[in-house]
Amino acid sequence: MPAGIRELIPEDRIRSRVMELAHQIDQDYADAGEILLLGVLRGSYIFVADLSRALSINRRVDFIALSSYERDTRRAGVRLIMDTRVSIEGRHILLVEDILDTGRTLAYLLEVLAARRPASIRSCVLVRKPTQEAQVTADYVGFDIPDDWVVGYGLDFDDRFRALPFIGTLDPGALD
Ligand code: XMP
Ligand code: MG
Repeated sequence: MPAGIRELIPEDRIRSRVMELAHQIDQDYADAGEILLLGVLRGSYIFVADLSRALSINRRVDFIALSSYERDTRRAGVRLIMDTRVSIEGRHILLVEDILDTGRTLAYLLEVLAARRPASIRSCVLVRKPTQEAQVTADYVGFDIPDDWVVGYGLDFDDRFRALPFIGTLDPGALD
């Protein structure tokens, strides 16, 4: 275990929860024909890789990327810096995010993407913290976690720890 990290969600619990989510999504979209999994880089890349392989329904995979910037008082502190390769108009979109924290990111993305007239749009987050401020809910949630910084399974601290197979909490003061 790297210094400063404590395991919160072990690898086998992540694996079985991803299977459960995939099963639920398979059922919910049974009549949809095809869905587009839209991963938000970079934190969701491992979750998208596992979820997309656990699904049985027809699915495509694409990614978008966000950059955060200094918050002004009116707008969410995020902006789209890489857009989808395919048009999302008329498609069933499942937005896949790593973390629902304040909810500003998800609220911003749902607003931007809904304006492009997808057939439907839902969201799936790996973990949810108890800190939502924006009026937004995720349709699928992997795990509810405490309000601590988490890393691993795609999640990072300063781009470190993404490749850890489990999700752990970080004590930044104890890092090497
Ligand atoms: P909001 O507040 O907009 O934030 O819901 C969501 C985004 O904040 C990042 N975030 C984290 N990333 N460990 C991370 O690696 C964390 O504990 C954490 N908390 C928030 C994340 O990028 C998410 O998309
Ligand atoms: Mg993120």
